[in-house]
Amino acid sequence: VPHRVHNFNAGPSTLPVSVLERIQSELLDFAGLGASVIEVSHRSQEFMRLVEETREQVRRLMNVPASHAILFCHGGGHMQFSAVPLNLLGLKPARKALYVDTGNFALRAIEDASRQGYIRTIASGRNTDYDRIPELEPGDLDPDASYLHLTTNNTAMGTRWNAWPDAGAIPLVGDMTSDILSRRVEVSRFGVIYASAQKNVGIAGVSVVIVRKDLMGHALPGTPSLLDYRQLHEDGSLTNTVPTFTLYVMKLLLEWLDDQGGLEAMEQANARKAKLLYDVLDRGAYYRAFAHRAHRSDMNITFTLPDAARLERFLAQAHENGLYALKGHSFRGGVRASIYNAMPEAGVRALAEFMTEFERRNG
Ligand SMILES: Cc1ncc(COP(=O)(O)O)c(C=O)c1O
Repeated sequence: VPHRVHNFNAGPSTLPVSVLERIQSELLDFAGLGASVIEVSHRSQEFMRLVEETREQVRRLMNVPASHAILFCHGGGHMQFSAVPLNLLGLKPARKALYVDTGNFALRAIEDASRQGYIRTIASGRNTDYDRIPELEPGDLDPDASYLHLTTNNTAMGTRWNAWPDAGAIPLVGDMTSDILSRRVEVSRFGVIYASAQKNVGIAGVSVVIVRKDLMGHALPGTPSLLDYRQLHEDGSLTNTVPTFTLYVMKLLLEWLDDQGGLEAMEQANARKAKLLYDVLDRGAYYRAFAHRAHRSDMNITFTLPDAARLERFLAQAHENGLYALKGHSFRGGVRASIYNAMPEAGVRALAEFMTEFERRNG
């Protein structure tokens, strides 16, 4: 058995060993073709079936209603920072949109959208150092806005939204890059959901984009065809050569997720894993959780130690103990443990035990 660390990287992230082994075993011969999945046409019958099955898996696991289409789009999460305004700003003549600033990725989304239209930040977590999701004022929900954008889980901060705001007729857009398929979501509450794949749905290369069908067809002039949701929908996401390997891995991962009992079982397992770490953080004053209790993420657990010297020692000793990639995002600092779907409970237990032991020796 090859050496494997407990990998807490925020993305790309750890994959189930069974999925990696299946990739290995199938790599030379895809679907009995005698050629690898990365050597065959994306328009071959076999590959197009794979894309269709992947889409159907997403639909079933997330309970996506018929009102919404499921697209696969190049360019990861960042490309959607532009694709969303390009597709949706044209829904209303004012070409404006509302954003909530909950940390670095929300800020990047705001920056990219600002190139396409009038973008208003209606609430920001900046004043509380992004330790929580800010309150929205109902008066800020301008009915002339084309959409309201949220980052449902803030990967670097370790916070998440637990209830969606009631924005009336304004479509909600959710960047679910770091929590898609980790908890149940009522998809019909959203106009658009997007997530790049390399955290909870596999490896880098595509975003899953779920779009309410009546919001398509309003793309601004000049929108590249590869970013035009209607075009992608009409082409079954095969407008050009898709990242074939990424979609293949996504399908394996969705099958794995199904085998684990689907989304409800995954949500419970994720809550259990996160609690193992939050319980250590809450036990005393040695570690301090960044996120306010009411807004804690189950995917990214962020915290500090009493001082910089002990933080450095913690990260170095964790690494020596096979606990990999725990350094916090540069925007936040401290420690971050990313524990997406594929992180086994044993990995989280190993970290919790290391934390307890480290505190005992370095208190
Ligand atoms: C919440 C969130 N949105 C967007 C992104 C950007 O994704 P990508 O690197 O695929 O562009 C990330 C990446 O970590 C993220 O965590």
